[in-house]
Amino acid sequence: MIDASTRLVVLLGYPVHHSYSPAMQNAAFRAAGLNLVYLAAPVPPERLAPAVAAVAALDMPGANVTVPHKERVPAFLDEVAPEARLLGAVNTIVHRNGRLVGHNTDGTGFLRALREAGYDPRGEAVVVLGAGGAARAVAVTLALEGAKEIVVFNRTLDRAHQLAALVRERGCGGAAALGWEALEGQTPEARAAFVRAGLVVQTTSLGMSPRLEDGPPVPPEWMSANHLAYDLVYNPSDTAFLRMARKAGARTAGGAGMLLHQGAAAFELWTGRDAPLAAMKQALEACLA
Ligand code: ATR
Repeated sequence: MIDASTRLVVLLGYPVHHSYSPAMQNAAFRAAGLNLVYLAAPVPPERLAPAVAAVAALDMPGANVTVPHKERVPAFLDEVAPEARLLGAVNTIVHRNGRLVGHNTDGTGFLRALREAGYDPRGEAVVVLGAGGAARAVAVTLALEGAKEIVVFNRTLDRAHQLAALVRERGCGGAAALGWEALEGQTPEARAAFVRAGLVVQTTSLGMSPRLEDGPPVPPEWMSANHLAYDLVYNPSDTAFLRMARKAGARTAGGAGMLLHQGAAAFELWTGRDAPLAAMKQALEACLA
């Protein structure tokens, strides 16, 4: 029940109407018996500063931050935790003792999801498809976890180079960048990256509802039983890329696992408790059904 002691947690993004976080976090608060409610707030860029100030002014335990604010929000915080600094983005704010601290649970969420899929990136070669914000969280996390090679493919080659440079700075010596043409033209260099890789992560928006048949131009014969194919897209839960990879014998995992675990890690930061994973998963599955 909402009463005079209820405290608010918000999601700051623009737009936010598509988000599953309210369903997932409210289910978590209920299951944990916490007097908290979670609301999504559409915040245009020019209102980000007062919206962040409201997290402290209204004494919220914290907030989530999503597109397009993740990179800009550190400027309005008192402190940024090391993992968020390394990823260059904040998706979770914790308000404690009057201070706003920025964290990033996307990397933790991705790693927990990989672990559930039985994959350990240490010493591995990896292919990352895409070079946007999601790709950066994934690629930097893989570098920090000791992946030995990360080859970034992106439609816009410049952005792939930028991400490869960042990954190198984060300790992965074997970082390289290639364009979509290398996939379309099936260059030997591109093919060799797939042969060495144990993990292929799809981070672009290709395949998202309603454009269900879209996928990255990966030649199907380059995917094999040696791969875990991970698609960050969670709606739909099965994508054209995953279907193609499965047909080629690869193991596959959709983006719902990362979504669940980044939310669970945020819950843990706000409340100091273990997240009620089963309740969160059930709420997420109901959204995705
Ligand atoms: P996000 O935060 O979800 O990663 P983003 O930073 O806008 O969003 O990045 C979107 C990613 O999807 C980029 O890698 C983008 O490629 P470009 O850098 O070339 O724009 C990729 N992407 C989006 N639409 C695409 C399309 N139709 N074909 C190929 N890549 C696409």
